Amino acid sequence: MNPMIFTPELKKRADQISANYPVQRAAALPVMRLIQETYGAISGEAELEIAEYFQIPPADVRELMTFYTLFYSKPKGKCHIQVCRTLSCNLLGAQKLIKYLEEKLKIKVGETTSDGQFSLDQVECLGACEIAPMAQVNKDYLGPLTKEKLDQILSLNYAGKIQV
Ligand code: FES
Repeated sequence: MNPMIFTPELKKRADQISANYPVQRAAALPVMRLIQETYGAISGEAELEIAEYFQIPPADVRELMTFYTLFYSKPKGKCHIQVCRTLSCNLLGAQKLIKYLEEKLKIKVGETTSDGQFSLDQVECLGACEIAPMAQVNKDYLGPLTKEKLDQILSLNYAGKIQV
């Protein structure tokens, strides 16, 4: 295979990451993060190249892709909203917030708006139960959330850190 994803620069960075681990394949997650941050997502082609780089079956990479919600096959919107649906957040109304977002954005969980501005996902506990119900919006943890606070996030066309 002629690598399209692992450019010489990316391969060098992947090698540097792998050198920190006693077994090369243990670096699969950070290298996958590197690929995703570089390309915005991990395509099917990228999965194959990752498997080849680590000399593991492509099914192993697919398993990591499906197990960890932080990896995705298609780029997410500019504002990526990941609402926690686990116990604390659920008891405090996460499902209502998800439904509200679906109605406001006119998309379902797992989808991106046609203008590429917003993506909506639901995820398991993000370890921030003290601010339940909460969501990760891009890299920030925001909560406790209400419909009003979600409106604020949506109207700001979220692109950076805000306080809610
Ligand atoms: S249950 Fe939502 S952050 Fe823990």
